[in-house]
Amino acid sequence: MPIIEWNDDYSVQIKEIDNQHRQLIDQINALHDAMKQGKGKEVVGSIIVKLAEYTQRHFMSEEQLFLKHGYPETTRHTREHNAFIEKVAGFQNDLKLGRILLSMEVLNFLKDWLIKHIQIVDKKYGPFMSAKGVV
Ligand SMILES: [Fe+2]
Ligand SMILES: [Fe+2]
Repeated sequence: MPIIEWNDDYSVQIKEIDNQHRQLIDQINALHDAMKQGKGKEVVGSIIVKLAEYTQRHFMSEEQLFLKHGYPETTRHTREHNAFIEKVAGFQNDLKLGRILLSMEVLNFLKDWLIKHIQIVDKKYGPFMSAKGVV
């Protein structure tokens, strides 16, 4: 069973971005499934690598959109992205060194951060981009 499901309330009214957010949700669910099925460190580790890479590409898409349209919250928003990237890199490093095990706590952190970010921070640029004709 998925740990999160896409909900129209998550929509920022930009098709490409919504698709990327759906992909992120799918990857969180894949990570949850792998953990629940007791998959080994390698499998779980490779899903996290994919999630981290995809997240970075997604953040870049958003930031390019901000720069292109002169979004006034660019600096603050980008700062949030960077803090998350650093946090995930820290988890990856700790996992690799065996300092932590991937726990539900880590998974919940990733899930909660992404959902909260989409619902509060990402949704803020929706009306701005719509006014610029971005769909
Ligand atoms: Fe986003
Ligand atoms: Fe964002």
